Amino acid sequence: MRGISKAFGAVQALRRVDLAVWPAEVVGLVGDNAAGKSTLMKVLYGIHAPDEGEILVENKTVVFHTAHDARAHGIEMVYQDLALVDNLDIAANVFVGRELTRRFLGVVKVLDKRQMERAAAEVVQTLDPDLTQVRRKVKILSGGQRQTVAIARSLCFEPKVMIMDEPTASLSLEKIHRLLELIQRLKARGLAIILISHRVQDIFTVGDRVVVLKRGEVVGERRIGDTSLEEVVQLMVAGVPQGAAGAERVRGALS
Ligand SMILES: Nc1ncnc2c1ncn2[C@@H]1O[C@H](COP(=O)(O)OP(=O)(O)O)[C@@H](O)[C@H]1O
Ligand SMILES: [Mg+2]
Repeated sequence: MRGISKAFGAVQALRRVDLAVWPAEVVGLVGDNAAGKSTLMKVLYGIHAPDEGEILVENKTVVFHTAHDARAHGIEMVYQDLALVDNLDIAANVFVGRELTRRFLGVVKVLDKRQMERAAAEVVQTLDPDLTQVRRKVKILSGGQRQTVAIARSLCFEPKVMIMDEPTASLSLEKIHRLLELIQRLKARGLAIILISHRVQDIFTVGDRVVVLKRGEVVGERRIGDTSLEEVVQLMVAGVPQGAAGAERVRGALS
């Protein structure tokens, strides 16, 4: 993402933000509430069109009009609010919006429920061996199980980039550790992962790099090996914008 800006009315949610992520890399995206983290990820996922800036996938400029466009380029997102359909079962949730279809008598397309259930069960069980009943309705699941379903949904289509926006928000400590292990496995499989978390220590556990946003601007970017939790927290609290836009503003404020 290059030079991404986005305003909602008078609120400048993002100002010339650059962000890159590479295969087999975990980038942590941190910053206070309203820093612009979710907005930046929604731009990457085709939910918001940026006011300026561009997105490149494998060196080619892309324009996303919908999340479907982003998915077609191998970008997946696990939502902060886990948008699952309560009244559907696990398998249906894994495939919601893009059900597997097959040609029936060469003409009519019907939902291939059997194949869907098999594929869903396979992915769900690699994430959580205890979650075996893919015909269970999602509304009776725990927070951690809902998380699993949301991640399974994202993984079923073998994305190149996985965005996780506060995935640990509703999880117990044990489930958080499980999720961090899963992130490491996904990374080992070559995925590029962007992890948003207010648990900065988690980003130090699984991250390769951390990018700090503050009031819509990047105020710091560090390799995890070259920084400390204290420094990152300091950047979140007192960071000064980087790059041309930030430098101009700092000069302006000083003159
Ligand atoms: N759909 C929207 N409409 C209006 N304002 C929004 C919308 N989404 C986000 N904002 C505003 O943009 C700013 C950044 O929000 P957000 O990206 O959600 O921050 P974060 O995820 O870092 O907490 C906030 O001031 C928020 O109120
Ligand atoms: Mg957010």
